[in-house]
Amino acid sequence: MDHFEIRDGVLHAEQVSLETLAAAVGTPFYCYSAATMTRHFEVFRAAVAGLGNGDPLVAFAIKANPNLSVVATLARLGAGADVVSGGELSRALAAGVPAERIVFSGVGKQPHELAAGIEAGILQFNVESEAEIAMLAEVAAARQRPVELAIRVNPAVNPGTHAKISTGGKDSKFGIPFERAGAAFMLAAGQEWLRPVGLAAHIGSQLTDLGPIEDCIGRLGGLAQELRGAGHPVTRIDVGGGLGVPYRRDQPAPPEPHVYAAMVARATRGWDCRLMFEPGRMIVGNAGVLVSTVILVKQGASKTFVVADAGMNDLLRPSLYNAWHDIQALRPRDERITATVVGPVCETGDTFADDREMEAVAAGDRIAFLTAGAYGATMASTYNSRPLVPEVMVNGASWAVVSARNEPAAMQALDTVAPWLEPQPGATATV
Ligand code: LLP
Repeated sequence: MDHFEIRDGVLHAEQVSLETLAAAVGTPFYCYSAATMTRHFEVFRAAVAGLGNGDPLVAFAIKANPNLSVVATLARLGAGADVVSGGELSRALAAGVPAERIVFSGVGKQPHELAAGIEAGILQFNVESEAEIAMLAEVAAARQRPVELAIRVNPAVNPGTHAKISTGGKDSKFGIPFERAGAAFMLAAGQEWLRPVGLAAHIGSQLTDLGPIEDCIGRLGGLAQELRGAGHPVTRIDVGGGLGVPYRRDQPAPPEPHVYAAMVARATRGWDCRLMFEPGRMIVGNAGVLVSTVILVKQGASKTFVVADAGMNDLLRPSLYNAWHDIQALRPRDERITATVVGPVCETGDTFADDREMEAVAAGDRIAFLTAGAYGATMASTYNSRPLVPEVMVNGASWAVVSARNEPAAMQALDTVAPWLEPQPGATATV
């Protein structure tokens, strides 16, 4: 469910017309609905409340949408954060996520990032290799601070999603292979300043089949039992994120949070552990759209091209994963066309939709790419020297620009002209 709907013939975010926003901030821009992300977070939290012992931690995966206002909205509702870099850690803290609700995942954490997490006093590190155990032991020892961690296990299950967003397969770079995970836990337990307290896994994203997640949880449970048998306390299990969202209105929706939660309840019955979740897409995916203006409509040899002012640099998912985003005219007409929707970037891959049946649009009309709140703005680049686009958050009848457009001068500000290219006094410039 989301709060983007046509009212009086125009697509609105909650009570604000996207045409009004487009006139105020220019296109392209991302628009987020605070009510939608709030609802998704609350539905998820209510679904998992009461699972495991103690209060489950719902740690929003910052990577899905790190905008400070997005993270602050969720932090105020009680969300924790799953971070994968020093930059994400800093954003989570800046947005008001309490350190004791932050989990630090990632396959290539560096000593300075581990140190930042320890100094902030985060809840736990999800450790992904024996080498990282050694690195964390050293960083913790240098600070003489006890550090809690979970071993991220690679459960070797196929999550049945796009290959580029699968993370739980046997040969994926993530986690410690299942067969070595118990030994890794014991290795950590033998380090003076390390306190292994749990197990973690995350098998992939946009999951629509709960079977592989259930298999994965079953494997974690078996390992936890073994470790407990050997005298190690296993008090936390982090089952990761990954629940899919509906990208297409014309296709069946992925399992709802209560169905997912019922599976987790079944798979973890009697475990006596605190459970942790790391949803990203599920919370913010349908809470954001990318609004764009049609620059022109162009007739190719056999295709009709709708050329939008948004490009693959603004929303990379179609180009990188062949992902589908519904496209909605801001002022829908009663006429339909079949068109290939492309951006202005000089790449054939700059294609949002190929031969898509959609509402008729003409030059100057505005369109919205739906379900763009997760892995949208955060994966944008300035390719073709295109500025990063603004992000706007709507809350009821109010709205605010929550990330400004990155103008060309600001983009160039980090470049410098090498000294030998500077014009010499009295000489004629050659560049
Ligand atoms: N936890 C960990 C350790 C993760 O690696 C991820 C996502 C999540 C949680 C959150 O997963 P979610 O609930 O959002 O599915 N850029 C891709 C998605 C990459 C996901 C990477 N990891 C896309 O646009 O589809």
